[in-house]
Amino acid sequence: MFFEAKNLKIYYKTKKGFVKAVDNISLNIEKGQTVGLVGESGCGKSTFGQGLLKILPPTTYYDGSVKIENQELINLTEDKMRKIRGKKIGMIFQDPMTSLNPVMKIEKLFYETLKTHEPEITKEEARKRTAKVLEKVGIEPERMKEYSFQFSGGMRQRVMIALTLVLNPILVIADEPTTSLDVIVQAQIMKLLNELRKEYDMSMILITHDLGVVAEMADKICVMYGGHIVEEAKSEDLYYKPKHPYTKLLLQSIPNTNINDLDLKYIYGSPPDLSNPPIGCRFVDRCPYKKEICKLKEPPVVEVDESKVKCWLYSEVKQ
Ligand SMILES: Nc1ncnc2c1ncn2[C@@H]1O[C@H](COP(=O)(O)OP(=O)(O)OP(=O)(O)O)[C@@H](O)[C@H]1O
Ligand SMILES: [Mg+2]
Repeated sequence: MFFEAKNLKIYYKTKKGFVKAVDNISLNIEKGQTVGLVGESGCGKSTFGQGLLKILPPTTYYDGSVKIENQELINLTEDKMRKIRGKKIGMIFQDPMTSLNPVMKIEKLFYETLKTHEPEITKEEARKRTAKVLEKVGIEPERMKEYSFQFSGGMRQRVMIALTLVLNPILVIADEPTTSLDVIVQAQIMKLLNELRKEYDMSMILITHDLGVVAEMADKICVMYGGHIVEEAKSEDLYYKPKHPYTKLLLQSIPNTNINDLDLKYIYGSPPDLSNPPIGCRFVDRCPYKKEICKLKEPPVVEVDESKVKCWLYSEVKQ
């Protein structure tokens, strides 16, 4: 398997105890595949993405396994992890301003990035590679003489994508890559990202709370709720044949879909407190279909058609 997370747990250590932001998640990704990760705010999407790169606070607790091309990441030393970051696994953040150093010219930024992984690289070679990749994202190579604050939001995100691509990663994690941009620029950036993903033969984890955006781009979609993956399915199956009540709720929130068997009006409440999550299903308080067992026992993941669903409605096990 190209990428494999197995029983992955990522807990934040806080004064109140552990926040179980990612709790026993398993996910496989094939080479060249795009996986969408969706779910409402606070369900653990960014924790998962950043946890794969181990860029979370040093007190964070990890358990389980994450393998990329059979290399285990969870127990890697910081030194070895630094060789993976950017080089093997790239990351595109929501707000490029925080990751693009504003006091460094673009050219220098690319040179420094390249040098981290290829210490021998000359300035000339770095400049060539920078020009090539800037061109790919639709930015005039001459603009590498400028600072990131001289670019518009959309342009900055293009620079960020170029900075990720210049190292040729095999997997890229894009965390809400277009959320801060207007809808037209959003669509352009998504299209660009999709084309470049194919051209560079990368796999991608695309994180967003917008199911509409991923439906077109992703091969499969994982729906997260309260630190769990509650449904994993091929994009068209998820979209047309959603199984988990929470997936249906999410789909209902997109205009122009025809999921009418749940009435949004009756779904109330908010996501669970992850420092003290419910012992049974984490969606139980908001689920219109809840049964007794849902409160008492965590649902197993079951295969329904070709989808995987973590819900007692689909389990054969008697209460
Ligand atoms: N540094 C931290 N320390 C403690 N708890 C944290 C920390 N960062 C995130 N959390 C908590 O972990 C949970 C998951 O957060 P995360 O940022 O992964 O959610 P998300 O799905 O990316 O949300 P959003 O859509 O808003 O970006 C939340 O309950 C959040 O409050
Ligand atoms: Mg997030």
